Amino acid sequence: MQIILAEHAGFCFGVKNAIKLLDDLIKEGEKTYTLGPIVHNRQVVESYEKQGIKAVELDDVKEGNLVIRTHGVPPDVINQARQKGLNVVDATCPFVKRVHKLAKDLSDKGYFVVIIGDPNHPEVKGIKGWCGEDAAVIENEEDARKFYTDKKVGVVVQTTQTEENVSKIMGILKEKLDLAFFYNTRCNATQQRQEAAKKVAEMVDVMLVVGGKNSSNTKKLAQVCKDAGAKVYHIETADEIKSEWFSKAERVGITAGASTPDWIIKEVVAKMEQISKKSDFAEGQIVEGVVEKVTDKEVLVNVGYK
Ligand code: F3S
Repeated sequence: MQIILAEHAGFCFGVKNAIKLLDDLIKEGEKTYTLGPIVHNRQVVESYEKQGIKAVELDDVKEGNLVIRTHGVPPDVINQARQKGLNVVDATCPFVKRVHKLAKDLSDKGYFVVIIGDPNHPEVKGIKGWCGEDAAVIENEEDARKFYTDKKVGVVVQTTQTEENVSKIMGILKEKLDLAFFYNTRCNATQQRQEAAKKVAEMVDVMLVVGGKNSSNTKKLAQVCKDAGAKVYHIETADEIKSEWFSKAERVGITAGASTPDWIIKEVVAKMEQISKKSDFAEGQIVEGVVEKVTDKEVLVNVGYK
């Protein structure tokens, strides 16, 4: 059995940045909280809890550092935290901040802002908070079909969306709305992971997608791999792996979400090596980085329909 580890699996630039900020605060020994879990990964959150870092709601804290996670928050949350005297440490990913800025600019200029994304995800709630009243979230084709406004519209996209979902929704919106701007704000970490995962998924029988069950980008990776035709198992840790999943597999792919730490990926790879070396499988072989590099692209694409 051959095991293929997709390129770009694991922590993205935004998560690395947030983790470093948090680790620096721990080293300084300051009282620190995170506003909600620092990343959507239970194992990472638990490891910080052991170091005394709690995930809290704004009402729960009166003093200390409050770290804003990569997903970002609406501006009023930052203002309230500062008014309470908390030291706000902003770990919002720069890609998300860019979406905030674009959404706010569109809103300030009088456009109706459409956000393509999951309305219940903290990133999308945060983006919506940077817009005025005239804003709506569209998650899927059904929402797109139901939605209408006669105002001029500007569109932004949740950073972890799949290209496929965005283009399906845009196909519907283009037909009926007065579209002025479309900013395809999927981040390049998302693009790289999804493209690399798709390439591996097309080559294998079974694909392991490693990451938080509540992680938006990991769930999207699993969807991309399913769409590519692989049998997909979304797991959080190596302990969940069952050898019978691979009884007929010649090739197994592994990828991991942007909030999955290296040590979990290594444990998954080690477990797969063990499984592939058992008598009923051919010698295991880890092929790393077989997928060619996806070149960094400019994130923003401004398509003026007018
Ligand atoms: Fe940022 Fe994209 Fe990661 S928005 S936090 S680089 S998945």
